[in-house]
Amino acid sequence: MKVRFFRPSDGRRCHYIIKKCLFTVNKKEDSLATRKNLAKNNTPKRLLEKNSMEKIYVAEDKNKVVGIIGIDDVGIIHHLFVDPRYHGKGIGSALLQKTITTAKKHKLKKVTTHSSILADGFYKKHGFKRIRKHTRKWLNSKITYIKMEKKI
Ligand SMILES: CC(C)(COP(=O)(O)OP(=O)(O)OC[C@H]1O[C@@H](n2cnc3c(N)ncnc32)[C@H](O)[C@@H]1OP(=O)(O)O)[C@@H](O)C(=O)NCCC(=O)NCCS
Repeated sequence: MKVRFFRPSDGRRCHYIIKKCLFTVNKKEDSLATRKNLAKNNTPKRLLEKNSMEKIYVAEDKNKVVGIIGIDDVGIIHHLFVDPRYHGKGIGSALLQKTITTAKKHKLKKVTTHSSILADGFYKKHGFKRIRKHTRKWLNSKITYIKMEKKI
């Protein structure tokens, strides 16, 4: 497995992975409307737009993209999603590590993320501290996330 930069041709596969997570493993944590909004916010076109504003990486296993993550220039980590068939194989950790290395190269002192409720334990395992839980209105729905940060 390797971690490399996102390419425009990865858009469809990444969108599929994100949708797959949202409608299976993340099913219990947000309303259907919120998860639909999240899926719409991560279409191939949106991912391409985001790629010009942040660094997006993908994990590739045997020429197949199996996970995605992004980090912006102030150290906020975005959209970490691993194909559910590949969970528990160290892919999420490898992607997270890549963004931390990127942040260090940019001399940032901390990284932050808005974690899903379910991924809270994953980030804690990687040394993130819970700052606070937020619920806010988003489009036609409400979204709940946990702000977490790690000093690097
Ligand atoms: C969270 C996620 C990215 C983890 O990816 P992964 O590739 O399965 O994680 P890893 O295999 O690298 O796991 C690393 C460690 O974290 C643990 N872990 C993974 N997911 C966890 C979770 N949700 N809660 C607690 N611990 C978790 C693993 O058991 C493993 O522990 P170990 O080192 O003691 O064996 C993945 O479950 C996912 O895509 N979830 C759905 C999308 C999501 O919620 N993303 C977060 C958006 S903010």
